[in-house]
Amino acid sequence: MMKLVHVVGARPNFMKVTPVWRAISKRLSTRQILVHTGQHYDVNMSEVFFTDLGLPEPDHYLDVGSGSHAEQTASIMTGFHGVVSRVKPDLVLVYGDVNSTVAAALVCAKLLIPVGHVEAGLRSLDRTMPEEINRLLTDQISDLLFTPSSDGNENLIREGVNPAKIHLVGNVMIDTLVQLLPKAKDPGSFGLPEKYALVTLHRPSNVDDLTMLRRIVEMLAQISERLKVVFPIHPRTRQRIADFDLRLPGSESFQLREPMGYLGFISLLQSSTVAITDSGGIQEETTFLGVPCLTLRENTERPVTVTDGTNQLVGKDMNLLCRKVDQILEGDQKEGKIPPLWDGHSAERIANVLHDFLN
Ligand code: UD1
Repeated sequence: MMKLVHVVGARPNFMKVTPVWRAISKRLSTRQILVHTGQHYDVNMSEVFFTDLGLPEPDHYLDVGSGSHAEQTASIMTGFHGVVSRVKPDLVLVYGDVNSTVAAALVCAKLLIPVGHVEAGLRSLDRTMPEEINRLLTDQISDLLFTPSSDGNENLIREGVNPAKIHLVGNVMIDTLVQLLPKAKDPGSFGLPEKYALVTLHRPSNVDDLTMLRRIVEMLAQISERLKVVFPIHPRTRQRIADFDLRLPGSESFQLREPMGYLGFISLLQSSTVAITDSGGIQEETTFLGVPCLTLRENTERPVTVTDGTNQLVGKDMNLLCRKVDQILEGDQKEGKIPPLWDGHSAERIANVLHDFLN
């Protein structure tokens, strides 16, 4: 029997592997093996997603933990090399743009094991983002490139990738959203007012810089004077706020929470008045849900969320953020449409391509 290994490691990977795992189970008689690198390890950054998404326990856990990019990438490579040497897979699938993605792809490329990259071709064109380096390198050494939108195809072709490797399949993260929205928690169970902003922040460009993080925190405090702010805080951001000795607002209208599981988070997201974020996945999920999204970044590797969807980039301009929130509160919000192929069936398209590839 053929063997297919999936590699995941960080929070956004888990929503992407789930529908692909299921679609392959239905379409192919391949043995599937799940490898978790341990890049994220806290219960609420990892385990809670396995429960919410119904993912099987990983077959291999590499336990790499945190560290510098070099340390983390090297540990994943060393651990994953051991796994693939024993398992000898026929194909490895990697997801998204985290360190686990590029590390696993590089191991496979050197061992001549075919690699498929799910969420290929996205480009912010900003090489100061660690994820942009991961995207560029992973795509250059992958054999199958599954793109979520046509800009991904254009980027890959511009970079000289053989078009025969590229498959426009749509967005697997939206497959998970479509499947699990009916199971999302009752938004009423959170005891929130009708209107609130849901905030997530974790990009180094926002949270590792004292001046920037201070300005963001001050602006969130200001926004919370007229709109309840709910802020599930990423461990990196919590750590930086402590390191920089910054004070978060203590008022009732500013609710700090631990990072949330998937079913709770999508419930809060679908009912929110506005999402304020620097996440990639949330730009996509808000576009699908029709929720206004204000992104605290100068660029995005997901431009369809701006051209087609509800996303607006506010960059580092906190006054612009404030004005946009006011506009949304006045009912003046950007209308969006759902990009092509974000229809809940992307993983089935991937399984069809894999069927042909492996046979
Ligand atoms: C990583 C990804 C990023 C992704 C994000 C989603 C890379 C380069 N970055 O960023 O693309 O958007 O995940 O969350 O792969 N920590 C914990 N518990 C954990 C994990 C991390 O406390 O379970 C803390 C550690 O102090 C760690 C810090 O968070 O040093 C940052 O974690 P890391 O995995 O390096 O990067 P993220 O910021 O999570």
